[in-house]
Amino acid sequence: MSIHWQDKTALITGANRGIGLGLVQALINKGIKRIYLTGRDFAAQQSLAIQLKNPATELIALQLDVTSAKDIQQAAATISQLDFLFNNAGIATGSGFIAENSGDIAVQEMATNYFGPVNLTRALLPALKKSSGGAIVNVSSIAGIANMPLLGPYSAAKAALHSFTQCLRAELAKIHLLVQGVYPGPIETRLTEGFDLPKATPAEVADVVLAAIENGEEDVFPDAMSLNWYETFKANPKQLEKEYASWLG
Ligand SMILES: NC(=O)c1ccc[n+]([C@@H]2O[C@H](COP(=O)([O-])OP(=O)(O)OC[C@H]3O[C@@H](n4cnc5c(N)ncnc54)[C@H](OP(=O)(O)O)[C@@H]3O)[C@@H](O)[C@H]2O)c1
Repeated sequence: MSIHWQDKTALITGANRGIGLGLVQALINKGIKRIYLTGRDFAAQQSLAIQLKNPATELIALQLDVTSAKDIQQAAATISQLDFLFNNAGIATGSGFIAENSGDIAVQEMATNYFGPVNLTRALLPALKKSSGGAIVNVSSIAGIANMPLLGPYSAAKAALHSFTQCLRAELAKIHLLVQGVYPGPIETRLTEGFDLPKATPAEVADVVLAAIENGEEDVFPDAMSLNWYETFKANPKQLEKEYASWLG
């Protein structure tokens, strides 16, 4: 599908760094008309808007903590039309389910990684329904395909986001809005600091995601590790579960 990016608008959650920032830069490279740079640190979005100022793309900073009903309501009241929603913001706290503090971690990770995208998508649907040829992009994780016990509650929240993506896709099938799930492996961002694995860059992920939108792809494995692990999963789901479990030692 050819996309006339110059007429399009996008909103990115967690725009200020990592994969979110990679998406911002890739969309600017495409010459998109407008990007809402959103995050819980408003000053960070404002300084990004100044830093990336350019004649083709209007950059609008918005305060948007995806766990805040008030922020979501305010964003929905501000935005009347939207083509691309990137549900990118996420947190990961290395934890399983049986440690003392893991209950709180599970609640926080569900709030940010699952309920955040669900609530924001629902609030922005009226604006998205005005788009012709837009997309909702949910950044899940390869850990949402099989649980990585080193990131147990995170994996569960990303699996919930994957399931939400499937349901949304079915529910929106008649209105020509692409609903895309992205399932990265290890990417070079603050989230994976200290993980000793080969990592792709946010710019590489962003380029794959935008190309996949242009091709109308629903499921995106944007790096070599996620592609490999997904091949394992397709051949034998139990094998991937066991591989991830073996990292616990
Ligand atoms: N890096 C990886 O290997 C990897 C692999 C698979 C999936 N992912 C997913 O990719 C997405 C982006 O992560 P990243 O790797 O780019 O990590 P990152 O560099 O840590 O960036 C995370 C972004 O999310 C924002 N954020 C966190 N909680 C938020 C909230 N409640 N409301 C709004 N924004 C919030 C952060 O903002 P602050 O500056 O305020 O903290 C930051 O902008 C996440 O959903 C993550 O789970 C990453």
